[in-house]
Amino acid sequence: LIYFDSASTSLHKPDIVIQTVAKAMTELGNSGRGGHAPAMSATRTIYNARERLATFFGTQANQVAFTHNATIALNIAIFSSLTTNDHAITTVLEHNSVLRPLYHLQSHGLSLDFVGLATDGDIDYDALEKLLKKNTKCIVITHCSNVTGQLIDLERVAQICKKKGLVLIVDAAQSAGLFEVDVKKLGDAIVCFTGHKGLLGPQGTGGLVKNGYSPITPTFFGGTGSDSFSHYNSGIFPESFEPGTANAHGVAGLAAGVEYINQIGMKKMTSNSLRLAMFFEDEIRRIKNVEIYGNPQLPKAPIVSINIGDLDSAEVGAMLSEYEIYVRGGFHCAPLIHHALGTQKQGAARFSFSSNNTMEQVKIAIEVVNKIAREHVGS
Ligand SMILES: Cc1ncc(COP(=O)(O)O)c(C=O)c1O
Repeated sequence: LIYFDSASTSLHKPDIVIQTVAKAMTELGNSGRGGHAPAMSATRTIYNARERLATFFGTQANQVAFTHNATIALNIAIFSSLTTNDHAITTVLEHNSVLRPLYHLQSHGLSLDFVGLATDGDIDYDALEKLLKKNTKCIVITHCSNVTGQLIDLERVAQICKKKGLVLIVDAAQSAGLFEVDVKKLGDAIVCFTGHKGLLGPQGTGGLVKNGYSPITPTFFGGTGSDSFSHYNSGIFPESFEPGTANAHGVAGLAAGVEYINQIGMKKMTSNSLRLAMFFEDEIRRIKNVEIYGNPQLPKAPIVSINIGDLDSAEVGAMLSEYEIYVRGGFHCAPLIHHALGTQKQGAARFSFSSNNTMEQVKIAIEVVNKIAREHVGS
């Protein structure tokens, strides 16, 4: 089995993640609910995980709230930072996890603008500044495109936000665990991450990391294990943003994933997967009838999206599956970038690499792509 779909979810979790989740499932009670040993153990587990994630993102434990994935984190960040009288700026690179909450607010009056791509394929940072209005409140931006792998210069966007007093909301779903995200450098910012991709944790984990003083208000309400007689949640971050029973089992595994990355070294892991991605891209470029998306000169994640002739990309995915090579074909929940790349009909076959992959696997995939291009597209 050759798994090139790590941008979707990391398939091979480190043993320590699996063992930690299994142990947590035998030991943990309900965090924040009661003072007996299993409940306290769950509370401690979540606190330790909060600390580990906080250190990973360059901040303190009380700035990290756990959610079930990046999508929920982005919904919380967007709905708690914007009202329908505001103006927000986002980009054509975004995933539906950013677009749909924004479109929802737009349908209730939010004013919304999109930054497109410059001629080199990068985000048009100058155009972004020109879109600023008096009532602009937030810039909502991905750190890394899930289609082209292109990375955004977050510190450059943060400078714009700092100058204008805006809140920066970052979708770090694709970058967390692969590239450094230091929230302290980002001014007033909320970074949303998912646990099951680059952080190597279980599905059902994720969160938001806050920096700065902009108040955010909870969007979900319910039991928090404290202040039971109050009609309201306290609004205090992070506990008010985590109502209901926490996923302590998953969060324990997420912390183990981060510890694993710390031990091996994130830079080392990412440079291994980038080496594979770059080799793949360079070799694929030589094959007739293969189109590769994105500018290889720009900083990027180990993601290579392609099409073969005018074959449907989902069909290409199915053909590759016959060789037990697993990629994601079709559309990638990022409609605007498909329009920008002209792939709104064909989609794209996305190969995403991890440090678990090997050069041998990459060479097999190159051969199979070559074969498909020869046999199904012709000369
Ligand atoms: C760029 C980007 N944002 C957000 C998400 C949503 O992540 P999740 O499904 O874990 O909520 C994804 C998932 O593929 C993504 O690639």
